[in-house]
Amino acid sequence: MSLWSQFSSLVWGPGSVLILVLLLRLSVQLWHKSHLWDLQCCSTDLTGKVAVVTGANSGMGKVVSQELARRGARVILACRSRERGQQALAEIQAASKDACLLLGEVDLSSMASIRTFARWLLEEYPEIHLLVNNAAICGFPKTLTPEGLELTFATNYVGPFLLTNLLQGALQRAESARVVNVSSFTQERGYIDEEHLTGAGRPLTFNQNYYCSKLLLTSFTGELARRLQGTGVTVNSVDPGVVYTEIMKHFSWSYRLLFKLSSFFIKDPKQGAIPILYLSLAKELDGISGKYFSSSCVITHPPKAAQDHLVAQSLWNASVQLTNLGKMD
Ligand SMILES: NC(=O)c1ccc[n+]([C@@H]2O[C@H](COP(=O)([O-])OP(=O)(O)OC[C@H]3O[C@@H](n4cnc5c(N)ncnc54)[C@H](OP(=O)(O)O)[C@@H]3O)[C@@H](O)[C@H]2O)c1
Repeated sequence: MSLWSQFSSLVWGPGSVLILVLLLRLSVQLWHKSHLWDLQCCSTDLTGKVAVVTGANSGMGKVVSQELARRGARVILACRSRERGQQALAEIQAASKDACLLLGEVDLSSMASIRTFARWLLEEYPEIHLLVNNAAICGFPKTLTPEGLELTFATNYVGPFLLTNLLQGALQRAESARVVNVSSFTQERGYIDEEHLTGAGRPLTFNQNYYCSKLLLTSFTGELARRLQGTGVTVNSVDPGVVYTEIMKHFSWSYRLLFKLSSFFIKDPKQGAIPILYLSLAKELDGISGKYFSSSCVITHPPKAAQDHLVAQSLWNASVQLTNLGKMD
């Protein structure tokens, strides 16, 4: 076989697929690098600050917690599993020896658990400078919690709503504080129906409970920002983009396999955490509130439903009733 035919069989055979895949991966990585905020250029120091990160034991929550701790913050890893939380804490501690970390147990799908956690937290830390509502689930069919909430909406929306409100006093006492709500681009496919919170309302197709719950979180972000105007507390939401984490662990094996295969081309948790860290740390965001940021860290219009003030107020009132906020706190 001539040298040329050997070369062409390599280029047009399996070798070409490999080269194409590698080139594609390289371009994706370069694209991410050029479109992501440069964390290293941010000089924000968090010494003496208290930060709470929900879902801190895996994925982006763990990366965010590690970076906040590296910058001197006392970080409360708010996790539902003591075991997984301890493991993440040990890993972060091993990576940054001076990290000041504390594990807090909270199941965000349970209002009782959130109240217990918030009581403990407020006793320990009367001032909180940063709350990252990061924990979420996806891939669950309609399921009711023992408290009568729909599981996905309870975890992804009602939990953050209740926790943030219970911690409001501590955030305001900090004088300057931020709340970061981790939403998702998939909210574009959601809609707002308060009845979904208790498992009623218009029927939802596969995984639409996740999309809708993220839309509610963005609507809540806008309403909370209006209510917190002038208090020194800002609240924004962000889409981290498509990131290879454990988020698909409740899907069937075929979805998980597809996600695994795509992991070569999508962001890793470190890259996915950048937009969340941007909202948590960037000095230029001082005073910016009620905004939704794309995964490229740019202020973007959220879906129309999340921009509607009347819908947001109605959702707020329904959530206050559902969580008994005000009556017990
Ligand atoms: N990955 C993506 O492509 C993507 C895209 C858009 C938005 N997001 C959002 O990014 C955020 C972080 O997700 P991730 O991708 O990093 O996924 P992940 O690795 O699965 O992290 C989710 C975290 O939430 C915790 N969690 C789940 N249910 C909880 C509950 N009831 N109480 C307390 N903690 C609970 C999980 O704890 P356990 O380990 O105990 O389950 C885990 O630590 C989520 O809000 C997600 O919706 C992700």
